[in-house]
Amino acid sequence: MVQLTLPANSRVGKGKHFPAPAGAKRVKTFRIYRYDPEGTENPRWDTYDVDVDACGPMVLDVLIHIKNNVDPTLTFRRSCREGVCGSCAMNIGGRNTLACTRGWEEVPGKDVAISPLPGQPVVKDLVPDLTLFYAQYASIEPWLHTDTPEPQKEWKQSPEDRAKLDGLYECILCACCSTSCPSYWWNGEKYLGPATLLHAYRWLIDSRDEATGERLDALEDPFKLYRCHTIMNCAQVCPKGLNPAKAIAEIKKMMVERVA
Ligand code: SF4
Ligand code: SF4
Ligand code: FES
Repeated sequence: MVQLTLPANSRVGKGKHFPAPAGAKRVKTFRIYRYDPEGTENPRWDTYDVDVDACGPMVLDVLIHIKNNVDPTLTFRRSCREGVCGSCAMNIGGRNTLACTRGWEEVPGKDVAISPLPGQPVVKDLVPDLTLFYAQYASIEPWLHTDTPEPQKEWKQSPEDRAKLDGLYECILCACCSTSCPSYWWNGEKYLGPATLLHAYRWLIDSRDEATGERLDALEDPFKLYRCHTIMNCAQVCPKGLNPAKAIAEIKKMMVERVA
């Protein structure tokens, strides 16, 4: 029989409330998704009334403040605090972004809701399991492929050819784009998703690479590339201002041009 209700353990319940400390003058409420798949409890939204005068300006500052001062059980990833490593990607106020570069005052609405990147299994709280994402990235072999003997000093590239990599090499693999892509939610096992395809294009147009044909062959598949329907969520959320949808369109153009 068709199951028309959600399984009981998938319902997100109301969680604990952590009030602001006495004397706090400026208080902002943060609703944070909590889940431990190894435990027996359903996911829940915990509510933290935070004394924002005690925090820095970014959402990551608030999370660190909560962990250090209010609730040490809160789990999230972060490393560089500079928008460089991609570790702190999460959904903030309904939008995938980096917690370390998103100011909490910039998030629209009264309260700030924070949950893990959508569509991925949860390791704990705000930490998504990106095993599939990284395996897909590895699958495009993101390194230089060459047949000609290695030059004594270095593989040369003209400034013009180097400039073609702008808008691609800056990707920090945060996964904000792929996990905001509806096609990736529905077909993530088979569709490579915008981040991996952006990197695929980066190697396809690298003037030093000698495996363009093989790289295109590997993408010639009804799912890996062609599940992009130009919905453009990817370009809207990228915290580095990149446009994976454009890169995907360019790969499709290369596919057409090589059979024309
Ligand atoms: S443009 Fe393509 S890759 Fe980007 S969100 Fe839409 S379907 Fe996904
Ligand atoms: S393209 Fe942008 S959103 Fe996607 S993984 Fe790279 S940096 Fe993150
Ligand atoms: S902590 Fe590195 S990108 Fe946010």
